Amino acid sequence: MEIAVVGSGYVGLVTGVCLAHLGHRVTCIDINLEKINKLRKGVPPIYEPGLDVMLKDLIRKKRITFSTSIKTGTKKAVVIFIAVGTPSKPNGEADLTYVENVAREVAENMHSYKLLVEKSTVPAETGLRIRRTVQMNLPKKYRNKNNGGLEFDVASNPEFLREGSAIEDFMNPDRVVVGVESKRAEEIFREIYKPLKPRMIVTDLKSAELIKHASNSFLATKISFINSIAQVCDRVGADVLKVSEGMGFDKRIGRHFLDAGIGYGGSCFPKDVEAFIHLSEKSGYNFILLDAVRKVNESQRRYFIRLIEDKLWIVKNKVIAVLGLSFKPNTDDMRSAPSVDIIQALQKEGATVRAYDPQAMENAQSLLPGVTLTKDVFSAVKGAHCLLLLTEWPEFKKIDFKRIHNLMQQPLVFDGRNMFADENLEQYGFEYYGIGRGIYKGERG
Ligand code: UGA
Repeated sequence: MEIAVVGSGYVGLVTGVCLAHLGHRVTCIDINLEKINKLRKGVPPIYEPGLDVMLKDLIRKKRITFSTSIKTGTKKAVVIFIAVGTPSKPNGEADLTYVENVAREVAENMHSYKLLVEKSTVPAETGLRIRRTVQMNLPKKYRNKNNGGLEFDVASNPEFLREGSAIEDFMNPDRVVVGVESKRAEEIFREIYKPLKPRMIVTDLKSAELIKHASNSFLATKISFINSIAQVCDRVGADVLKVSEGMGFDKRIGRHFLDAGIGYGGSCFPKDVEAFIHLSEKSGYNFILLDAVRKVNESQRRYFIRLIEDKLWIVKNKVIAVLGLSFKPNTDDMRSAPSVDIIQALQKEGATVRAYDPQAMENAQSLLPGVTLTKDVFSAVKGAHCLLLLTEWPEFKKIDFKRIHNLMQQPLVFDGRNMFADENLEQYGFEYYGIGRGIYKGERG
């Protein structure tokens, strides 16, 4: 199948590369020439495990090409995935300017049947608006539906991949959701995804759009729920790790997304929850549950900061070592990373911060002025008064705690992800604090 993917960000690039890997001929399009030039050389502009190897292989096999022009890039394509950015406006609403631009430009250059597919997370009804935009911007000779009109379809095919395991997620989907308006479009999707033998959920356009919103919002709700439980655990002296284990074995609940910590970040959950609240409000429904989910998430960062202030006592002039900056492991993505808020708050109080992250330091540099980024864990902790674990990178599991203890000024560890819960850090002489592990028992409980 001839496919074009417009937008070479996270979702677009991974989609393009994986579709090419499945045997399709793919053109990835982006307005950013620098990005396209990098991609042509086989260099992905993002860090995602496995992506660089696949990209180079597909370029060599001539199954993937790159372009900055929608006109030339979509010329041969039967299917056009729209995976451009949908940033938030100040009121939380999704800004769909880029989506509209793509729909218009594709339409202006259309001379044969095309299936336009929403891949970016967009509000319900965007599909209908795309259809209208395309119809109104087709070359004039094709506009009359009853006389020489050009056939086209609009569909929604939301993506559920996670950063850090994006290729794995794309190749082994729990389900593939397609919202279509015609049998022809449905058949095209069946053909595209045939090699994956997926469970296909075929719906109308609006339902598919809502499935994406509902799924991300539900996962964010699960995280805020367990974070609220963690708050109670800390106050009554219970252990959230045991609580989530005990809950998670119930098949109706499930163990996934019950890890308490400093809250969710990234380019999806914060933005999508915000956009869904706004969408619901616009449709006349006040989604108070999601409003609480957002508030709980924000409060987790403040709670962690208060814990540090409480246990460190005086923050001013203290040296604070930070391990992990990205919003989650296996990515260099710093968007809405909890680390930024936490570090900035401590800097404001006069702390000196030293940080190490295996992949995100380049992206972190401009976001965290005044932070010394170190070449390894040991240079970060040397002489530090406390250590903060903010991202659970697997390699931190293997660190030499004895050496860390020797290097630090004070043996104080704050674990924002409960990563070292099983390490018994007390045996090395550390005072250790996780989240929801019953810390205030006997003190305030
Ligand atoms: C999320 C969804 O999981 C994907 O299905 C979806 O396709 C994607 O958004 C998107 O809309 O594009 P992603 O943001 O890459 O994926 O990362 P997640 O693994 O979902 O983690 C999100 C945040 O939640 C991270 O900050 C993570 O640390 C946090 N989290 C996750 C917790 O705090 N606790 C948990 O138990 C799980």
